[in-house]
Amino acid sequence: MAIRKVVKIGEEMLRKKSKPVKDFDEDLWQLLDDMRETMYKNDGMGLAAIQVGVLRRAVIIDVNGLFAELINPKIIKTEGEDIGEEGCLSVGKFQGRVARPMKVTVEAFDRYGYPFSITGEKLLARCLCHEIDHLDGVLFVDKSLDKDKYFKSGR
Ligand code: NI
Repeated sequence: MAIRKVVKIGEEMLRKKSKPVKDFDEDLWQLLDDMRETMYKNDGMGLAAIQVGVLRRAVIIDVNGLFAELINPKIIKTEGEDIGEEGCLSVGKFQGRVARPMKVTVEAFDRYGYPFSITGEKLLARCLCHEIDHLDGVLFVDKSLDKDKYFKSGR
């Protein structure tokens, strides 16, 4: 395992759309292992492959002790709305409120290519939505209710 460099906002890479994972092979496992180490090293709750410079649809999360790897994730159901603070390892210190679904169901594949689904509420739902947004080049600051504060702060 190795810690990889986290891509920061302002780098063009972060705005690209990630491509589906096709090969559930050792390269993917290495990537996921490195992502996990990188996330923990940076005290993150989630990380998308694009944040370590790999344009593949793979994300990991660790919310309240629940660790999961989601390959080619798709949100298939959402319910309600919840407003809460978010941050991002690619953004730095800024945290801002974002409206997310209260509850989401996501279908994905595990590292071996087996399909599964996960349903999460509140923080877990938020984290899943945030990471999946990364795969389409979307950052939480784009959607944040506090985005004026962020963009005015002159970063
Ligand atoms: Ni993020």
